[in-house]
Amino acid sequence: VEGEEGPLNVERELALLGSGIAHSLSPPTWNGVFEELGLPWRYGLLDVGPEGLDEALARLRDGRTWGYNVTMPHKAWAFGVATRPDHRAQRARVANWLAAEGDELVAANTDAEGAAALLDAAGPIRRALVLGAGGAAAAILVALEARTFRVTLANRTRSRADELAARARSWLPELRVVDWESRDGAAADADLIVNATSFGMASDPGSPFDALPDRDDLHVYDLVYGHGTTPLVEQAIEHGASVADGLAHLEAQAVALLPHLGLPLDHAGKVRAHLARAAHRGPLRWARSNGAA
Ligand SMILES: NC(=O)c1ccc[n+]([C@@H]2O[C@H](COP(=O)([O-])OP(=O)(O)OC[C@H]3O[C@@H](n4cnc5c(N)ncnc54)[C@H](OP(=O)(O)O)[C@@H]3O)[C@@H](O)[C@H]2O)c1
Repeated sequence: VEGEEGPLNVERELALLGSGIAHSLSPPTWNGVFEELGLPWRYGLLDVGPEGLDEALARLRDGRTWGYNVTMPHKAWAFGVATRPDHRAQRARVANWLAAEGDELVAANTDAEGAAALLDAAGPIRRALVLGAGGAAAAILVALEARTFRVTLANRTRSRADELAARARSWLPELRVVDWESRDGAAADADLIVNATSFGMASDPGSPFDALPDRDDLHVYDLVYGHGTTPLVEQAIEHGASVADGLAHLEAQAVALLPHLGLPLDHAGKVRAHLARAAHRGPLRWARSNGAA
């Protein structure tokens, strides 16, 4: 694990496990929190492809590493190797927290937990449109349980949306799937639009929508996180919508990790402050361009 050569009295090692994660904000965020709390814990990076996963697992099993935050492309693997995934991870079939607990490997999905908390802060939502059918979209569908009357799902590859919806209807009975080409029309009656695709990342810039629906109660939640604002977030700000950006999601899923680390949610402010310091900016957490939150 990169950064392993830390102080000798480190009692707990955590790491972000993923590929192409050198610029992740998680190590500075968590190391700042641990230092502020006076905990002898350290958060490193394990930047590996699939060939490095056996070693990653060995580190958990022999206690060198206490737990991993897991990111792309290993979230499905983390769920697969877990012996005790919690119910959100079971529904999403991906996990972003994997830790050793005795002989067990526990797993959780703090993307879903964090999204639920973020959605609660948005106020009442009636109709949601979710774009995507990968791990992030699955986490959003898990989070939407009992938080909306109707959900519409659209994904570039329709069959993946159909498969995800077939599972998710067990907790979201009012879930329908539309073709990717119909997303603009489906957005018209949504008061929440969630982008859980990678559309909008630097490699694939652009907004998934030609235009946003003209409604006062519109909430736009873009999970894509990168340098600066995404085209969808810019479009939503110009529109006067209430916006949660990828940094707000990153923050929410990090705060949701606290209980899994055995730390109280009272420390949320510390997580937020250290993340904002690492990101050199604060998140858009249901911010509106007219200044209202
Ligand atoms: N802010 C955060 O903390 C955070 C946390 C989790 C995820 N995310 C972001 O959420 C996004 C999705 O993550 P994931 O884990 O779900 O990835 P994933 O499992 O690989 O799924 C990718 C999704 O994006 C769609 N997609 C990719 N390129 C597209 C394009 N050009 N046009 C339309 N759709 C496109 C895919 O559609 P197909 O099925 O057709 O391929 C699929 O639905 C990523 O950008 C990720 O960085 C952010």
